Formats: sequence, C-alpha cells, structure tokens
Amino acid sequence: MERFYTLVFIAGIGCFAIAFLLSMIFPWMSLESYHGMEYQTLAQLARQPSKEFVQLSEQFPESFREHYGDVNSESYAKALARGRDVYVGQACWHCHSQYVRVVSNEHVRWGPPSSAQEYQNALNQPHLWGTRRVGPDLAREGGKKTNDWHIAHFINPKSVVPHSVMPPYPFYFDERGVPDADGIALVTYLQWLGTVQAGIPVAERVTP
Ligand code: HEC
Repeated sequence: MERFYTLVFIAGIGCFAIAFLLSMIFPWMSLESYHGMEYQTLAQLARQPSKEFVQLSEQFPESFREHYGDVNSESYAKALARGRDVYVGQACWHCHSQYVRVVSNEHVRWGPPSSAQEYQNALNQPHLWGTRRVGPDLAREGGKKTNDWHIAHFINPKSVVPHSVMPPYPFYFDERGVPDADGIALVTYLQWLGTVQAGIPVAERVTP
C-alpha cells in the first residue's frame, strides 16, 4: 500500500512538471529566447508617424491641433492608444477578428497568416483576435483604404458598401465630416493595423 502512495506521489509531481513545461516554459521559449521575439512598447511602435496620420493633420488642421497638437511620435502614440481604447470600448472586436488564420485560403483575401511576433507589442496585448466575423478580418487593414473612405464608412457604412450591416458611428464626426479626438484616433489605429512586423515600418519591409 505504501508503495502505491509513493508511486501516486511521484506521478503527481511528474504531471505537475509536464504541465509546467507545456504551459509556461515552451510558450516562453518560442516567444522569447527561441525565436528572439522582442516585446515592443508603445513608444517603440510610434517612433515614425504613419503617412495617414500626417494626412489627418493636414486635412483637419483645427481639430487635429486641438486634440493632438503637432505630428510627432508622442501625438502618434497618443492617437494609437486612444484608437485601440475606442475599438475595445465600442466592441468592434465583436464583429471583427484580428487574426489571419492558416486555413481556408484566408491568405488570398487578407494576406500572410498572422504570426506570433505580430502580437508581441503594446497595441496587441491583450490581443483582439475576436471570435466572430460578422465583418472582415482587420489584422491587415492598414493602408488598404484611404482615410476618407474610413470616415465616410463610419458616418454611414451603407454610403460606401450598400449592403453593409455595420452600425454607423456618426458621433465621432461633425456635420462637415471633421473627426473629433476619437474619430482621428480610430482612423489612425485602423491605418496602423498590420503595418508593423518585428518593428519594421511597412514601407521598409522586404516582401519575400
Ligand atoms: C454588427 C457588427 C459590426 C460591428 C459592431 C462593427 N463592424 Fe465593421 N464591419 C461589419 C461588416 C458586416 C463589414 C463589411 C461591410 C462593410 O464594409 O461595411 C464591416 C466592415 C468594416 C471595415 C472595412 C474593412 C474592409 O477592409 O473592407 C472596417 C475598417 C470596419 N468595419 C471597422 C469597424 C470598427 C472600427 C468598428 C467599431 C467602431 C466596427 N467596424 C464595428 C460589421 C461590424
């Protein structure tokens, strides 16, 4: 009997060790040391303001200046973080995923499948993979559409996609279509999605 208990005890410790390896050491190895994936802070991500952010500052100088001041890495960081907050707050993730899967030829529609490295940064943690896809995946939305398209789409999705079931978000814009702080932030955030891999701005990335 005593032998039996000893065996169970050892097996218990063994199971604990395996669980420890599988759920902690292996993920850590694959993210940190094995593939050398570095975590990027918001400041690192925002080093170089996107051309869409610059465009917003030129097209809506008054609103931009009032809410964000000048175009620089600080104001860009502020807009990106705020955009993500609005995205979370409005539950955009309820209808949109941010994860291109390796199945069903998704790459044909949305580009290369998402990689672990893409989520190793301040704007992707906690991740917003989402569970449902009422609308399209947004992991690679940046640069796909113009700022104007996004603004028209937010004010009234049906004006650009006639059969859209996406709800309108007109309250981030005044009657002339000028975005407020949240409107600028949302567009800035969408235009950022998928443009950074391993910290390399999309313009400098070499496509294999
Ligand atoms: C009720 C579900 C629903 C919600 C909530 C929703 N969307 Fe959508 N969205 C859709 C659908 C459906 C489409 C596809 C039709 C269209 O383009 O309007 C879409 C399209 C889009 C597109 C165009 C993507 C492309 O490249 O064609 C963007 C960008 C977008 N949504 C952003 C957002 C953001 C940001 C929010 C939150 C503020 C949001 N959506 C909330 C359903 C939703």
